[in-house]
Amino acid sequence: MATTFTLNGDPVTIEGAPTALLLDVLRNGLGLTGARYGCGEEQCGACLVLVDGVAVHACGREVGTLAGRDVVTAEGVPEVIRAAFIAEQAAQCGYCSSGMIVAAAGLLGRVVRPGRDEVVAALDGNLCRCGSHPRIVAAVLRAAEGMAP
Ligand code: FES
Ligand code: FES
Repeated sequence: MATTFTLNGDPVTIEGAPTALLLDVLRNGLGLTGARYGCGEEQCGACLVLVDGVAVHACGREVGTLAGRDVVTAEGVPEVIRAAFIAEQAAQCGYCSSGMIVAAAGLLGRVVRPGRDEVVAALDGNLCRCGSHPRIVAAVLRAAEGMAP
């Protein structure tokens, strides 16, 4: 069985079981390693991707549910967001960074210039074991300024 959807702006067709998990398909099938395996239980946010603009856990999402949908990984978010994370040095080990960046992209896709509390709320489901949250929030606020009209 094949599933076709849009991935980072381009059409992609995935052959195989529709029950395959998107995180496995991205990392092992397509070589897109931005989404990371953290908990595997939809609890940490390391594997986030956008599906039709909404942040979802790739570790729990079956690829067969994505037919006709628009999927964006950390590799496909606006460059201004990734650049803001670098500018704010918003990582220590960096393991959480992709998920944080995708969560930020989801927020900034629907809210122009969010306040700090909105940023904190949007990142609430993303764990960072290094305690980099203050810099991560600063990076999202910086990205928001960069994306605002
Ligand atoms: S690996 Fe998906 S939420 Fe942790
Ligand atoms: S920077 Fe290490 S987990 Fe967030």
